[in-house]
Amino acid sequence: MFEYAGWGKKRRLSQIVAPDGRAVMLAIDHGYFMGATHGMEKPAEAIKNLLPHVDSLMLTPGVLRTDVRTDFGKGIVLRASGGNTVLDKDIDNEEIILTAEEAVKLNASAVAVSIFVGAEYSHQTIMNLAEMVNDASRFDLPVLGVTAVGKALKDKKEKRYLTHASRLAAELGADIVKTYYCDGFSEVVAKCTAPIVVAGGPKLDTYEDVLNLCYNAVNEGAIGVDMGRNIWQSDYPAAIVQGVKAVIHGNESVKQALELVNSLCNDENKRRELFEVTNKDIEESNIH
Ligand code: 5RP
Repeated sequence: MFEYAGWGKKRRLSQIVAPDGRAVMLAIDHGYFMGATHGMEKPAEAIKNLLPHVDSLMLTPGVLRTDVRTDFGKGIVLRASGGNTVLDKDIDNEEIILTAEEAVKLNASAVAVSIFVGAEYSHQTIMNLAEMVNDASRFDLPVLGVTAVGKALKDKKEKRYLTHASRLAAELGADIVKTYYCDGFSEVVAKCTAPIVVAGGPKLDTYEDVLNLCYNAVNEGAIGVDMGRNIWQSDYPAAIVQGVKAVIHGNESVKQALELVNSLCNDENKRRELFEVTNKDIEESNIH
């Protein structure tokens, strides 16, 4: 993997992809368009028991500066596209919000740019990725291309669309592509020339569903996950993150990982609800 890359890029990618070729990325960048979304109201608090179990953290430059200690020794993937909010008609009107130089100053391992293929601002977001690939190349900084769906594209989490969008991201030079798991996912992987990580999407009903998603994704060719809400919105975030890791890095079955998760659902790993949560909060956090 990444044979084409120079030493600097390989070094940075090794902070995201472990020696076994797999990646457990914790996505907490949602606030860039969702604000203080449910479960991530206080990022430092939400992630403190999760960090030991992940390879890297995907987040915004603001939260990196305020909520992550400078001795955090794992991968850092910085959100580099944005400019939208859930309050907009849709969330695809993004521009580049971070230069590669600024990302390097923050000691990032990679930057992440979303493309909303086929949405109103499709061209602009595809150009965002192309421009960031060129900018990042000056520093041997890897780029994560994210095939995002907004309000209009919500139903596009299916094979044909995700194959197209993922391949576009790879063709434009993304070193890793983040997309969604779907029926027929192995074809999405087979037709994408870059390695793929999958997002978790809105919170699933059970831990078994989350582990099945991880298990199916890696067994159909993904190198791992870049997962957010299904971890930090869950009742026992530090339990489910260890189950995810057991599947991705430990090659454990869903049954084995679920037993582990269940054994870890204790008071120490329980998420404290810090604020009143309304139906509107839940609705907004399920927007993509
Ligand atoms: C937002 C993102 C998120 O990081 C991504 O959706 C992953 O988080 P989740 O598992 O909650 O879907 O890229 O555009």
